[in-house]
Amino acid sequence: MSNALERDLDALRIGAEGAARHGRYAQGFHLMPPVGWLNDPNGLCQVDGTFHAFFQYSPFNAAGGVKMWGHSTSGDLLTWDYHGVTLFPDQPADCSGVYSGSALVREVGGRKRMELFYTGNVKLEDADGYDYVRTGREANTVWVTTEDGDAHGPKRVVMTNADYPTDDTCHVRDPKVWEKDGRYLMVQGARRDDDWGEVLVFGSDDLAHWELMSRVTTPARFGYMWECPDYFELSDGEGGSAKVLGVSPQGLEGGDWERRNVYQSGYFTLEGDVTGRCELGDFALWDAGFDFYAPQTFAAEDGRRILIGWMGIPDEPTYGNDPTVASGWQHCFTVPREVTLAGGRVRQSPVRELVARRTDEVRSVDGVLDVEGRTAFDLVLDASACTKDVRVTLADELALTWRDGRLSMAFGRTARSDAGCGRTERWEPLPELRNLRVVGDASSVEVFANDGELCMSTRYYPDRYRVQVDAPGADATLWGISV
Ligand code: FRU
Repeated sequence: MSNALERDLDALRIGAEGAARHGRYAQGFHLMPPVGWLNDPNGLCQVDGTFHAFFQYSPFNAAGGVKMWGHSTSGDLLTWDYHGVTLFPDQPADCSGVYSGSALVREVGGRKRMELFYTGNVKLEDADGYDYVRTGREANTVWVTTEDGDAHGPKRVVMTNADYPTDDTCHVRDPKVWEKDGRYLMVQGARRDDDWGEVLVFGSDDLAHWELMSRVTTPARFGYMWECPDYFELSDGEGGSAKVLGVSPQGLEGGDWERRNVYQSGYFTLEGDVTGRCELGDFALWDAGFDFYAPQTFAAEDGRRILIGWMGIPDEPTYGNDPTVASGWQHCFTVPREVTLAGGRVRQSPVRELVARRTDEVRSVDGVLDVEGRTAFDLVLDASACTKDVRVTLADELALTWRDGRLSMAFGRTARSDAGCGRTERWEPLPELRNLRVVGDASSVEVFANDGELCMSTRYYPDRYRVQVDAPGADATLWGISV
């Protein structure tokens, strides 16, 4: 490595002392960028006990810019060590950005390695007629091998626009790769010429040569582009199972979508074979809050399916403008979540590692709790014996209410008045409230209702938290989280 490159990498490595520069909204147990801008989780995996998270990273400007892959590792999914930028846009095939992708872990010659796949984004020189949707953009599928996530081998282009269906636009991206029965499979998100989102499914025997196996979409148009697809199977341990296709659709219009974020992330359950004939069931949001996009899952070595999302959304009114920008950084990941299947429902809950971080327990008395001064907390509310409405206030400006079979997350008069398409309130149907878990960090709140069947997340910038529960008949416990 050249001295100049080493110097640049050193400049990007922020040690513990760097935390002071992140300001009051620095997250304690959520992955955030050392400096600059972060978006999608990429290449999530675990190798010999160590968790690797790569991320869409633009270190030079907290408001965004050309994308590369940052790399962090963790032993517990909550404390992350930043290693530097692993993939720079330094080749003709990725010169406008190292876009999102994934990692496949495999053993070759007795050594484990990560096979990284990403989209090499190339915007051709601007010329009349390039609209960067139908013309003017290359979406190269690039393969890179690394053992430690830092040093990597050559970048190999395994697919170009010429390998995608001719009736797709040049928006094809975000390869997610996995292995099934000795074969490698890959999903990519795509935008058809008729502005119809779909997922392309490819198969390969050697990771270098890929053939298109199927195109998966809905019978009626569901947005113009599906970003960041993901596919995995869950079983409930009692004979029940589900095939899950996750996508981040852009361009959902009409009805309820008007009152939501500009783009959504969710999943379809799938009947049939994703590489052949299949049908998609209803779409469910991964998270119905204000800040959640482009999640990715991976299988941990103990078999858990873990999901991490980006707590941010492209093209929102607040895009590029969060209060953290003044401290030189923007955006973070969600808390990693275990995804499970129970009673036919997909659930998410914060990884169990969080429990080991709990400190300072306070329990409610007669359904009432009032605690001030925590900057990171974990609140668990058993509402099964609750006799009335449930109200949880996190600070003056953010409250959760369960009333008349609905759960709401609402901001007060001033805080984040421009959140989520100008809305400051979300109401979600929830006929019965069994339990509620709220996980707060310095600048985020994540809500998991009914064992995570409904999740709502938001970035939030409180002066300080004051957690108040008013839920007659319910039991609530609040812990601090050590960070
Ligand atoms: C989703 C996304 C991806 C793309 C990446 C670029 O947020 O637009 O589709 O690969 O971000 O940063």
